[in-house]
Amino acid sequence: MSFTITGTGSCLPAFTVQNDDFTKFVDTSDEWITTRTGIRRRHFIKDETLSQIAVEASQKALENAGLAAADMDLILCATLQGEDVSPSLACLVQAELGANCPAFDLNAGCSGFLYALHSAAAYFRAGMANHILIVCAEQLSRFLDWKDRSTCVLFGDGAGAVVLSRGDSLLTVRTGARGQRENLQVPGRNVSGPFWHDTEKSRSLLSMNGREIFKFAVTTVQNEIESAVKDAGLTADDVDYFLLHQANGRIIDSARTRLHQPEEKFPGNYEECGNTSAASIPLLLDELNRNHRLKKGDILLLCAFGAGLTWGSCIIRWEKN
Ligand code: ACO
Repeated sequence: MSFTITGTGSCLPAFTVQNDDFTKFVDTSDEWITTRTGIRRRHFIKDETLSQIAVEASQKALENAGLAAADMDLILCATLQGEDVSPSLACLVQAELGANCPAFDLNAGCSGFLYALHSAAAYFRAGMANHILIVCAEQLSRFLDWKDRSTCVLFGDGAGAVVLSRGDSLLTVRTGARGQRENLQVPGRNVSGPFWHDTEKSRSLLSMNGREIFKFAVTTVQNEIESAVKDAGLTADDVDYFLLHQANGRIIDSARTRLHQPEEKFPGNYEECGNTSAASIPLLLDELNRNHRLKKGDILLLCAFGAGLTWGSCIIRWEKN
């Protein structure tokens, strides 16, 4: 016994930034960003807070599932870092929803949603839950180096949520990691005081070796998709939708070409949202659900990679009407 997805929800901040807006403070162009990444605009938190968008996504997912916060046995929040270091974002969401269950955050970079699904599956298998709320909420804008054109144009903020209930829709779920700092790091250190030096204080923002992460992403996505379909006893042709981490359109195109699959099977939100880290796949899933693109029985393959380095994949049968 594992789970089935009974509800989805999402929330994007109101403030939208176009590619051209970056030309005011870094040497870039709409043409470069669009050609190299496919991204056209992204949302940044300005008038909301991270917990507010996480709560709104969660409320919509509960409503879509026809369940109340009181029905939840666990709230799992995937985020690079919550609104505060403590309390966790999951605890802030739990309080605001009025739920009465354990709540904790996990950080697996952009693979956070897959790690949360894997953890939730273990709770269901152990008989520890009937309903679990997963909310993935990210505010990457807090960690961007606005002087670094190679990274600040890539990311966006947002929140996506799912409600899982006991069921048999999970065909396989896999996660992996190869810990390293050198190619992708968000130190987030804010050490200040009489006993520390400035150099330690200044190391807080995101830095990335884009080319190395690109190579890692293309190989990982390919390997994970092949392993996941094999684990589930399927082939790529059996998959109705591939919901891949929305970091860069070229990474998604590369997977699609290698798998010889049509473009319609690879929906995307990177054009409108940029890379929203752990929130990217649940945001996309909610969009497909609300636009009635998913049919009962559809096979969905989810696959992500990210900071850590981490990765994960999952195959789910869609059971909602
Ligand atoms: N505007 C204009 N020029 C730029 C910009 C920009 N915004 N950014 C970089 N360039 C320049 C570079 O300086 C370089 O110039 P040079 O040749 O004179 O040195 C040139 O463009 C090419 O740079 P590359 O890094 O080779 O460009 P590439 O085609 O690899 O695209 C990118 C860069 C988009 C970052 C790509 O490597 C990528 O998508 N990598 C993967 C990122 C990713 O998926 N991250 C996900 C994990 S994030 C997480 O988990 C939090």
